[in-house]
Amino acid sequence: MEFQIEINNKQILVEEGETLLSALRRNAFRIPTLCHMNRFSPTGACRLCVVEVLGKRDLITSCSHPVEEGMRVRTNSPRVIKARKSLVELLLSNHPDDCLYCQRNGHCELQWLAEEMNVKERRFFGKKNTWYPDYSSTSVARDPAKCVLCSRCVRICEEVQRVTAIDFISRGNQTRVNSAFNKGLNESSCIHCGQCIQVCPTAALLDISHVEKVQAALSKDKKQVIFFISPAVVASVTDTLGFKSKVKARDRIVAALKRCGAFRVFDLGTAHDVNVLEEARILSDRLAERGGGALPLMSSCCPSWVKYVQSFRPGNLVHLSEVKSPQQILGTLVKTSYAVQEGMDPESIFLVAVMPCVAEKYEASLEENTHKGVSDVDAVLTVREFFQLMRGFGLDIAEMEEEQPDRPFDTGSSAGWQAGYSGGKAEAVARELFRIMADPKKEQFKFNLPKNLSGRREIKVPIGGKEIGFAWVSSIAEAEDYIRHLEDEQREDIHYIEVMACLDGCAGGGGQPVSRGFEHVRSRKRICVEMGKANPIKHPGENPAIKSLYKGKRLLPDHPTALDWLGRQFNKK
Ligand code: SF4
Ligand code: SF4
Ligand code: FES
Repeated sequence: MEFQIEINNKQILVEEGETLLSALRRNAFRIPTLCHMNRFSPTGACRLCVVEVLGKRDLITSCSHPVEEGMRVRTNSPRVIKARKSLVELLLSNHPDDCLYCQRNGHCELQWLAEEMNVKERRFFGKKNTWYPDYSSTSVARDPAKCVLCSRCVRICEEVQRVTAIDFISRGNQTRVNSAFNKGLNESSCIHCGQCIQVCPTAALLDISHVEKVQAALSKDKKQVIFFISPAVVASVTDTLGFKSKVKARDRIVAALKRCGAFRVFDLGTAHDVNVLEEARILSDRLAERGGGALPLMSSCCPSWVKYVQSFRPGNLVHLSEVKSPQQILGTLVKTSYAVQEGMDPESIFLVAVMPCVAEKYEASLEENTHKGVSDVDAVLTVREFFQLMRGFGLDIAEMEEEQPDRPFDTGSSAGWQAGYSGGKAEAVARELFRIMADPKKEQFKFNLPKNLSGRREIKVPIGGKEIGFAWVSSIAEAEDYIRHLEDEQREDIHYIEVMACLDGCAGGGGQPVSRGFEHVRSRKRICVEMGKANPIKHPGENPAIKSLYKGKRLLPDHPTALDWLGRQFNKK
């Protein structure tokens, strides 16, 4: 039911049951918030969203209060402004005064709020927090002294990822967010998704930075620094810099990295193609009951999902595909076959992945991702760190001339773009499975992606005279619920599940630029879809690099098949 309420003397139409904040925002009233997150239940923790309702004694929190018929609201009365300003001043009273050196300087919600509330001096002097920062994790750094206790990280870790690696501990002015038993994040159940970094309003949660080690490698004559760029990063840069569709963001990124001193710059597309080809082959083998392994086959390209299965669902390891993630595939290819071909010492190569993901930092650090003591990937830059590197070198991507990536990894099929959003990889694998199993004279490939790709989705695709079930989920909570549902219902009609730990897949990855809403996730996803459609190489097998890589199926003398070489070790007995 709709009815009218009065806001600052203006009548607006509202929906029964919606919160006052949602009604206000829909009608272009900007209300400051800190603990509020779209799509999440309100906590009413920060009280910054207070408004005055005429006739009510106390100010109310608009994020948790439903609209009421006949309500007369004042969003910026002197009482409201004073209350909000005092709240911000209290938050600042014990906050470290190191904005000039802070990584979030200029991107900090607390800083914005102080400016918005016209806070010009310190009126309250609280005892400064002296909590130690936690750099124990390979992916996420924590600085509890900068925490404003908004609970956004705690809620995303619990409600979206269901791992509850962090939570509030202690009481009163000792309250803080921490991992269990005050151990470092490395000893917690963290799956390295970085979603907590995405939602933190301050610098209390950050990347474990690899920028300095990349800068150091670039300054050493003995190191040949090779970068590779994920298509999802290209989409993110396109979105962040507002490039029109005809601007080739990838080629500008290549040019910028070459100006930093990169020896080679590759496109990660070929590795996505290998990943899809191998996963489709495993699926066809499992469907034909060849080579062992269980159905449904579960994708293994998301390191957070793999870590979750290893920690929480070890019984599902037999379902995971044995293929390495695209990052580790390219790492292996560069440090072995490429190095051999080019006569390079793998130890002289410093390989840098530019990714939309924080978990790739963790993955690159794993012992299993080394060959003869040399890491396949030496550093991983998130999109945030990539922009930081560019600023450090004083480079403006918008002004760059375009430059092609280097051969042999200079291109990729549409599969690389499809990997940037939830559901895209499932479609690429289905298409490849069709190529392996179907008779194109009798069947036509049909994979009608629903308009809304988010959430839990299933699709049945006729391939080789059978109905093959494909499904995709994003977030661990969705994956957990979906797998339990398949188990409870004893369903056997789903044969492949794509799982991405981040909401909406890599478009919402933990390494993406921090934004206050989900609108950038949507636009990154749209760019990936458009780029995938416009890409001239439609199938992984058409990629020239793939054609030469798979020639004879002998990649290296001691590795008879691609999968022996590019496979993960956890399923190898
Ligand atoms: S990285 Fe992910 S799993 Fe780890 S604490 Fe943050 S939200 Fe939780
Ligand atoms: S660490 Fe960041 S997101 Fe978590 S409670 Fe503190 S300020 Fe909020
Ligand atoms: S945003 Fe409403 S209480 Fe925090």
